[in-house]
Amino acid sequence: MKMKAIDLIKERRSVRTFSGKPLSKEDAARILAFAEEAANPYGLHIDWVLLDTKATGLRTPVIAGEDTYIAGKMKRTPHAEEAFGYSFEKTVLFAQSIGVGTTWIAGTMDRDSFEKAVFLATDEVMPCISPLGYPSDKMSVKETIMRKGVKADRRRDFQELFFDGSFDSPLSADTSGKWKNALEAVRLAPSAVNKQPWRAVICGDTVHFYEKRSKSRNEGEWDIQKIDMGIALCHFESVCADEGLTVKFRTEDPGFAADDYTVYIASYSL
Ligand SMILES: Cc1cc2nc3c(=O)[nH]c(=O)nc-3n(C[C@H](O)[C@H](O)[C@H](O)COP(=O)(O)O)c2cc1C
Repeated sequence: MKMKAIDLIKERRSVRTFSGKPLSKEDAARILAFAEEAANPYGLHIDWVLLDTKATGLRTPVIAGEDTYIAGKMKRTPHAEEAFGYSFEKTVLFAQSIGVGTTWIAGTMDRDSFEKAVFLATDEVMPCISPLGYPSDKMSVKETIMRKGVKADRRRDFQELFFDGSFDSPLSADTSGKWKNALEAVRLAPSAVNKQPWRAVICGDTVHFYEKRSKSRNEGEWDIQKIDMGIALCHFESVCADEGLTVKFRTEDPGFAADDYTVYIASYSL
């Protein structure tokens, strides 16, 4: 039976210690096939590559017991980050549904070696990779330290993230009505260094998503937190779909007053 997105989201965590059992050919093929079909609301194409650690000699410093990585690459265009975040997270949740663990990795890798292995062109970007494998019963010391360092088991409160009509009016889970589970799914999402940059303003049948940046950036500059925003959009839409809420995606800034670090990303409407 197909698992519900909210259950997969609740049960997913970054897996950095694998059992050492090789990823089966069947699971590898299913994940690759799923990724290739995993569209995103921006309509941007992503190429997927599976990398065998033995054949390539590629490993990453905080992951143990893995034998396969998945990498995605795409043209460096506007909205590449959100699109990548959305499609990669769909694939992460699919992997979770068949018992395969993952960890989003943007930083803790030798980028040059991975980019060479996927034959990255000069007009392309390979935002993240992930190991694929079967979780070990026990976490390595490195993994435990890493999780503590980023407070990986903690998330911001609902009221810190979601607002009713304007950024002046925090929204509680109890009063969020039909959006409750979809917003909870956003709240639980993984993010780079667990910064949780997503914010949303709810206006009746529309939810406007914003990114609360950790630092200022120039327009058009690469922004890893927009990948987190793509993950949030994926969680939101996946849970809406399970709950029979048919939502439409658009990018039309409603122009709410916000601080300089809070930038509009996209909206979903019933
Ligand atoms: C865009 C992105 C980049 C990440 N980069 C790394 C990384 O380089 N190394 C790593 O160990 N974890 C990385 N993570 C995993 C986060 O640290 C992790 O998702 C967060 O701490 C929450 O923990 P959880 O995934 O177990 O819920 C990344 C996550 C995201 C979404």
